[in-house]
Amino acid sequence: MISKDDIQRINEASHIEEVVGDFVLLKKKGANFWGLCPFHNEKTPSFSVSPSKNIFKCFGCGAAGGSVNFVMQHENYTYPEALRFLAKKYNIEIVERETSPEEKQVEDEKQLIYLLHEMAQKYYADCLHNTDEGKSVGLSYLKGRKFSENAIEKFGLGYAPEGRSGFSAHAISQGYSLEALKTAGLAVDSPTPTDRFRGRVIFPIYSIAGRVLGFGARMMKSNDHSPKYLNSPETPIYHKSNVLYGLYHAKNTIQKNDNCFIVEGYTDVISLFQADIQNVVSSSGTSLTDDQIRLIKRHTSNVTVLFDADPAGIKAAFRGIDMLLDAGMNVKVLLLPDNDDPDSFAAKNRDQDIASYFETHAQNFINYKAEFLSGEAGNDPVKRAAVIKDIVQSIARIQDGITRALFVRECSRIIKLDEKIIAAEVSKILRKRFSEQSRTVADKTPIIEIDDTQPEQIIEAADRFSYLESRVASLLINYYNNTIPVMILDDNNEATEIQMSVSEFIMQTLLVDDYSPRTQMTSKIFGFFKEAYDQTELIDPSAWISSVEDNNLRKYIIDLMTSPYTISPNWLKELDVNVLSIDNAPELLTKDVKYTVFHYKLLRLQEELDVLGKELENTTEPEKQNKILKSMQYTQSVMKEIGSKLGIIRLD
Ligand code: CTP
Ligand code: MN
Repeated sequence: MISKDDIQRINEASHIEEVVGDFVLLKKKGANFWGLCPFHNEKTPSFSVSPSKNIFKCFGCGAAGGSVNFVMQHENYTYPEALRFLAKKYNIEIVERETSPEEKQVEDEKQLIYLLHEMAQKYYADCLHNTDEGKSVGLSYLKGRKFSENAIEKFGLGYAPEGRSGFSAHAISQGYSLEALKTAGLAVDSPTPTDRFRGRVIFPIYSIAGRVLGFGARMMKSNDHSPKYLNSPETPIYHKSNVLYGLYHAKNTIQKNDNCFIVEGYTDVISLFQADIQNVVSSSGTSLTDDQIRLIKRHTSNVTVLFDADPAGIKAAFRGIDMLLDAGMNVKVLLLPDNDDPDSFAAKNRDQDIASYFETHAQNFINYKAEFLSGEAGNDPVKRAAVIKDIVQSIARIQDGITRALFVRECSRIIKLDEKIIAAEVSKILRKRFSEQSRTVADKTPIIEIDDTQPEQIIEAADRFSYLESRVASLLINYYNNTIPVMILDDNNEATEIQMSVSEFIMQTLLVDDYSPRTQMTSKIFGFFKEAYDQTELIDPSAWISSVEDNNLRKYIIDLMTSPYTISPNWLKELDVNVLSIDNAPELLTKDVKYTVFHYKLLRLQEELDVLGKELENTTEPEKQNKILKSMQYTQSVMKEIGSKLGIIRLD
């Protein structure tokens, strides 16, 4: 493990323009550098590198982050791998932190299971190629399915012999314990060691980094009481929902082609791969999980789902596809002819015919769904209404507003219904989802009138409350270290002016209490600053973003860093000034911090007051009522004080 100190030293030493410059040709323009984005195909540079903020950001595909993120994405490194890479580049010696005995035990167990799988894979491959049984049963089967020697090699396929304990005996003779075999899911003891996989062709399941995590195994002799495929169980190294079959071999092509094909099973992946469609993964027969979608999203936002043309299968596929839309993916579907699955289709056709079929037959999911369902419903009005509802649900999942509008138009054409009606249905769903997501502040008249409809910040805010919250987050990130003058009362109750950092001021005013922010993003940002504050750590957001694993959060933070923070036009009106950027106007920063923070605080207090008011209504015990009333009075007095500071006190 790399210590926190070392991580900090690595982040401090890494200059983004140097790190990126090793991989991308950069040209200086103004304060920033520009180049062609390595993460998507482009002809004119939209990839920018900011040395002062120590971050990169692509305005084309949205990739963004610090040095560590860049190396992770570009080289497909894990977080520690990227840190080690940078440490080496900048000659930083890292002391790998001592792990605790418990951690070590878990690590050791995992290492052992990794080794065991590596050994097992070799054993099964050896059986396939070098034993009579393997050759006559396994290899001839694979050859019969037209798997090439090269593909068999590349995907590490193997054969597990029929005997009861061939593999277990081999592993035990190599020094592995039966206990380890059981934890790895490769054997059971009933009552003597028994191999999990027997008489089956073996498909190793690889991690993104290419380590064997588990196996899928197809039966050779049809037999009623065991399933066609037997897979590894969940083990310390294999979590089914978090792994995609084929991703290790596909990831580079996925990135290059900016698209990923999704198929059902092991054989589909291999058949397409050897037909030179290499950007293909499989969820292994189940519907995709959120984690699996996230894995794909690290490489592309475009997916093409392949499925066979029977209506039941199509409808089942629809449900899984909605999850892809939820994740902000662009989804196409590809139907194969004549009840072919990808495997049989690939076996029948020449490579170039497969490629051209794929190119010409992929169609947008929403359009396909609209066509399919409206075809099914015919002219039956009840069915048609249900179909419209269903399609509208899918359209509402599209995250990009413009794309959504385009699909509303397309669907109106396909299902022959007025565009306005569909658009209205879509916004109904969006509104509903919105109000479910953001708790409503209070139905009462707000105590402060702020017109927050001005599009001055690129951060979209659900309501005034989240809007102010995102401004507070923005202040924390951009001005954490700037100081502002603050009046405090000293021990003798005398007012003194002191200089306080913006982050300190925000912490003391807002974040000292336990409070959960409105949105997940602000919650994480506040959480980070709060923890750093609690531990009196130096705060450096540009180093912090490198460790942020959540892509959406990282982008949000970078948006806050790169969109010039401008003072709200409303503040300006009240302050009677005429400057748009506060960077060079410290006195404006002071005012803006105070305005933003106090307004936000007021809204929070108002919310508290409402909660107390509801409690009061539901309480009959006089003692409790008194207590609540006291709290309400206190809250109101704080609100008055803040309100008077702002000169906007309007408490009736
Ligand atoms: N699958 C599984 N366990 C099962 C059945 C299926 O894990 N008991 C997964 C496998 O990944 C399989 C996929 O679901 O590849 C699709 O199932 P199926 O169409 O039955 O398998 P194919 O790969 O087409 O198998 P084959 O062509 O060899 O019969
Ligand atoms: Mn098949």
